[in-house]
Amino acid sequence: MAIKNVMVIGAGQMGEGIAQVCAQSGYNVFLNDMNEQALEKAMKNMEKRLTRAVEKERITESDKTDTLNRLHPSTKLTDAESCDLVIEAVVENMEVKTKVFSDLDKITPKHAILASNTSSLPITEIAAVTNRPEQVIGMHFMNPVPVMKLVEIIRGLQTSDETYQAIEEMTNKLSKVPVEVNDFPGFVANRVLMPMINEAIYTVYEGVSSVEDVDTVMKLGMNHPMGPLTLADFIGLDTCLYIMEVLYEGFGDSKYRPCPLLRKYVKAGWLGKKSGRGFYQYE
Ligand code: CAA
Ligand code: NAD
Repeated sequence: MAIKNVMVIGAGQMGEGIAQVCAQSGYNVFLNDMNEQALEKAMKNMEKRLTRAVEKERITESDKTDTLNRLHPSTKLTDAESCDLVIEAVVENMEVKTKVFSDLDKITPKHAILASNTSSLPITEIAAVTNRPEQVIGMHFMNPVPVMKLVEIIRGLQTSDETYQAIEEMTNKLSKVPVEVNDFPGFVANRVLMPMINEAIYTVYEGVSSVEDVDTVMKLGMNHPMGPLTLADFIGLDTCLYIMEVLYEGFGDSKYRPCPLLRKYVKAGWLGKKSGRGFYQYE
C-alpha cells in the first residue's frame, strides 16, 4: 500500500514537527487541530524553519515552496477521508485519544493506517476502540522532530506485519531511524528517560540541590545536551506527569511514583516552556 496523503492530528510542538518532516519528504499533509490559533502558530513556525533551512543552503527556495504547498491546515477531522495514514499527536490522555481513534475509524478509508505518537499509552488499548486493530500502530517521534533521528515503532498486540513494514518504510523515507519495540508502558525511550527526569525533580524537592545545579551536574558530568529539568520544561511538565502516571499504574511499582513537586507545578499551570513557566521562566 502506497502512502501519499497523511493527516497529522494535534498542531502542538510534536504535530508541527511531524507535519513538517512528512511534507519535506514529499507527502501531502493535512495538519489538524481543533484550535485555530495553534494551527496558525504551527504554520508560521514551519515557514520560519524552512526559511532558515534555505538561508543555510540546506534546501532550495523551490523546495521550501513545494513543502509549504503540500501542507494544509485543517479543523475538520473529515479531511481524513482521503488519507492513507493518520498520525495522532494530541494530548497524552487516553480518553481524548480513544475518542479521536474511534472517530477516525468511521471517517478514514478501509486501507488507512492509524498511528499514534503517544509517549507511553498502550497501543493495544487505543487499537481496541477501532474495527481495524491490525492497522493501528505506535509511531513515536522524538522532540524536536526535525532534529532527532529516532522513531520508536510500537507494535500493538494485533498490529499486522504489513502495517509494521509500511511504517518502517515511511520512517526510512523521512530519513529517520526506526527501532521496533513491544507495547509496554513507556515503551523504551520514556521507561528509561522519564524516571531520570522524575528523580532530578526529587533532588530539587528534597533540597539536595538547586534546579540550575542539578542541570549542570547532568550536562557537564554526563555530557547530556540539556539538563533533565531544562528537558522536562522542553517536553512539557503535563506530558512528563502523564507518562509517570502511566509507568506507575502500568507496573504498579513505587519506584515510578511521580514527584509531588511535578504534580504541584502542573496543577498551577506551570507546564514548562510552552506555558512560559516551569522549572525556569521563559519570556
Ligand atoms: N524545533 C526544530 N528545530 C530545533 C528546535 C526545535 N524546537 N530546537 C533546536 N532546533 C534546531 C536549531 O534550529 C538548530 O538547527 P540549525 O543547525 O539549523 O541551526 C539545531 O537544532 C541545533 O540547535 P541549537 O544550536 O540552538 O541548540 P543545541 O545545539 O543545544 O541543540 C537540541 C538543541 C537539539 C534541542 C539539543 O539541546 C538536544 O538534543 N536536546 C535534547 C533533546 C532530547 O533529549 N529530546 C528527546 C526528548 S524525549 C522525547 O521526545 C520523547 C517523549 O515522548 C517525551
Ligand atoms: P501539545 O500540548 O504541544 O499539543 C497538543 C495539541 O493537540 C494542541 O495544539 C491541542 O489543541 C491539540 N488537540 C488536543 N485535543 C485535540 C483533538 N481532539 N483534536 C485535534 N487537536 C487536539 O502536546 P505535544 O507535546 O505536541 O504532545 C502531543 C503528543 O505527542 C502527546 O501524546 C505526547 O505524549 C507525545 N509526545 C510528546 C513529546 C514531547 O517532548 N512533548 C515527545 C514525543 C511524543
